[in-house]
Amino acid sequence: MSDTDTKNRTSKLDNIKAEFPELNRVINSKPVVFLDSAATSQKPMRVIDKLVEYYSNYNANVHRGVYSLSMESTEEYDTARELVREFINARSTNEIIYTRGTTEAINLLARSWGDANIGKDDEIILTELEHHSNLVPWQMLSQRTGCKLRFIPVDDFAVLLIDEYKKLLSEKTKLVAFNGQSNSMGTLNPIKEITALAHDVGALVLVDGAQYVPHNKVDVRDLDVDFLAFSGHKMCGPTGIGILYGREKLLDEMPPFLGGGDMIDTVHYEYSTYTGLPIKFEAGTPNIAGAIVLGEAIRFLNDLGMENIRKHEYELTAYTMQKLQQIPKIKIYGTTDLRQRGGAISFEYEGIHPHDLAQILDSESICIRAGHHCTQPLMRKFGIAATSRASFYIYNTREDVDRLMEGLAKADQIFGL
Ligand SMILES: Cc1ncc(COP(=O)(O)O)c(C=O)c1O
Repeated sequence: MSDTDTKNRTSKLDNIKAEFPELNRVINSKPVVFLDSAATSQKPMRVIDKLVEYYSNYNANVHRGVYSLSMESTEEYDTARELVREFINARSTNEIIYTRGTTEAINLLARSWGDANIGKDDEIILTELEHHSNLVPWQMLSQRTGCKLRFIPVDDFAVLLIDEYKKLLSEKTKLVAFNGQSNSMGTLNPIKEITALAHDVGALVLVDGAQYVPHNKVDVRDLDVDFLAFSGHKMCGPTGIGILYGREKLLDEMPPFLGGGDMIDTVHYEYSTYTGLPIKFEAGTPNIAGAIVLGEAIRFLNDLGMENIRKHEYELTAYTMQKLQQIPKIKIYGTTDLRQRGGAISFEYEGIHPHDLAQILDSESICIRAGHHCTQPLMRKFGIAATSRASFYIYNTREDVDRLMEGLAKADQIFGL
């Protein structure tokens, strides 16, 4: 790409806010500042339009009808799967399984691959940074099979201790499952390094990409991961649709997760045989609209360029960190090394409870998240119950960050010691 192209694309990103209708809302006489994209992202008009297009023009069940409308919806549905494949550079659309989201993708893996492959002498390595979604399904597997869960510890800056990880690895390790980016501390984890070390002992790797895929260019072949889970709603797509990527050979060997229509080959009263990938894992009428609209969200992100998205968030995070660091009453959690963190910043304001802070900011029309961010064990480890978290996406600007700073000053006037 030439310098001019890069500049044009970056400036396209700078003015992107206008394309997100919800960001044009005014509440309490103030324009909304949305700083909670780690929870869910806003949707651009073209993604919303795609949903209307589907329900207005070719709403029909997929893979079943011989009539034109069904063939149209099937074509759009399959095209979306190809867009996902290309987006993460998977080898085949057989490796792309539609799920309800990251949570369901991980549960699918724990139930299907876990039940078939894990026994009481096996170990699964997770990290102390995990979201409950990449913790509870493995705890449930451990309860079913007796396998042991081990945890890569983090240092005081929520960075994984790779030397400790190396000590945990052994021939008992069957899976290493970790997030690409922490939702509560912002840490960007070294996916390639963790994966290569796991493969050295013959273990498989699952990356929880819920926070990673929306913000970074992903190439599953280059990363060499075995499984990757992510959610459409955090990347400008709709809720209720997500992806489990898996190496074809592994998915092929795994038993189905749910049984029902579509995933079968032949059905008898007593038994059935199953169809191949990817439909083997997609029983029943799928989220057709969700998949098609996710495809449009991917087209939108591709137009912006994932490298530009990461660059934009990097700069915004740097700006915000620098501003927050000037406030003595603020303690930032996570690393200050910007190469090791993404655009989710957790902090504590001395003397103000995170929920009170979030409420004051809400009165200024600034949306942040307060709570444990579905990482209760990590909060416990840091000796806190909750943090305030500001998280960014493509549409956030320096003006948004300045509004956050003004809101914090107001909270200080009301609650400050
Ligand atoms: C790191 C991480 N993993 C998993 C999830 C679960 O995603 P979903 O609720 O879309 O299934 C989230 C959601 O916030 C997350 O941040």
